[in-house]
Amino acid sequence: MIYRDVDMTNSSTLRLISTAAAKLTIHTISDIQDAINFCHEKNLPMMPLGDGSNVILSSTVNACILDMAMLGIDVINENSTNIWVRVGAGENWHEWVTHALSKNWFGLENLALIPGRVGAAPIQNIGAYGIEVASYIDSVEYVDLSRNHVTDLSVLQLKSDECQFSYRNSIFKQHRSNRLITSVTFCLDKVFTPHTDYPSLRQRIVALDVPNPHAVDIFQAVINLREKKLPDPKLLPNAGSFFKNVQINPATLERLLEKYPSLPFYEVNDDQSACVKLPAAWLIEYCGFKGQQIGSLAMHANQALVLINKGLDEGFQNNTAEKVLAFADTIIRSVRQEFDLTLDIEPQFIE
Ligand code: EPU
Repeated sequence: MIYRDVDMTNSSTLRLISTAAAKLTIHTISDIQDAINFCHEKNLPMMPLGDGSNVILSSTVNACILDMAMLGIDVINENSTNIWVRVGAGENWHEWVTHALSKNWFGLENLALIPGRVGAAPIQNIGAYGIEVASYIDSVEYVDLSRNHVTDLSVLQLKSDECQFSYRNSIFKQHRSNRLITSVTFCLDKVFTPHTDYPSLRQRIVALDVPNPHAVDIFQAVINLREKKLPDPKLLPNAGSFFKNVQINPATLERLLEKYPSLPFYEVNDDQSACVKLPAAWLIEYCGFKGQQIGSLAMHANQALVLINKGLDEGFQNNTAEKVLAFADTIIRSVRQEFDLTLDIEPQFIE
């Protein structure tokens, strides 16, 4: 079904006031073919969207939104240690993680309760509690949207090592408008190995006092941690972490530690030129923004990295992307002035 001047306010978890030029729901490859032909005829760019949990929608989106609803969970191969499962881009992420666990397919437990759909997971290489999804992706299937007028759209594939995965990044984020992800093929473990090095997760597991935690224990611990810190977007509109953590080199770390001895940092090895990660939440909190509200926007009181939109509360006018970006800029400038570091916005701005 094709819509015009679509109200997008309820199509993103930040719930910003927004309209789009058009919107199509995509269930099949043939729907994508129709979308390419329609957008070529109307001279509209195409913009795929899942649950809108990692986007900032501009007041006017001059594009045709492709609501990705392709479903399906199919086992395509297995051996004694691993199983390969192809999952449609439109499947809900948390339901897929729950399903995998119920089948004793392991690896995704640490990524429980992340909002959004499966097709969005590789784009920003979702990660939480010490695991990035890239480690469990075998390949990503996509179609090339740059073609005009198609009658025989073929599905292409990139193997994991061709996806240029890094911290909250991939080839799909860099060339977002051209490659439309239709499914993701995961390679999961049949034998469970716990990953509990992430400090807050380790503490939680130790507190459980279970000698050999099973995948379900990790899954439940992650859910509890997330529910405690991260606001439910249905109750308090937000887009998860609003800024990326900051990657710096050891020399910069040394300079910072002299002035800020309690600055927390983590070693990372996914990028050779930047090998230390600083929690942006700490920098934001240090600058006084944790729980601080300007107009009807605020940084969350339990997690300084999460920007929340209180514009739907009584007495406020709902917010726009422009107001959100101005608020973010205030924080970016303050952090730069204090630490000489630049915060990058994590969700994608769509206009
Ligand atoms: N911290 C503060 N103040 C706060 C919150 C955290 O100083 O208000 C410091 C603490 O030192 C804490 C550290 O930041 O130990 C890390 O905090 P947390 O474990 O909450 O994780 P994060 O680095 O802030 C990242 C991801 C989250 C993911 C968590 C858990 C990014 C941008 N964010 O946040 O992902 O859930 O780790 O693994 O990498 C998301 O991407 O939307 C998201 C929620």
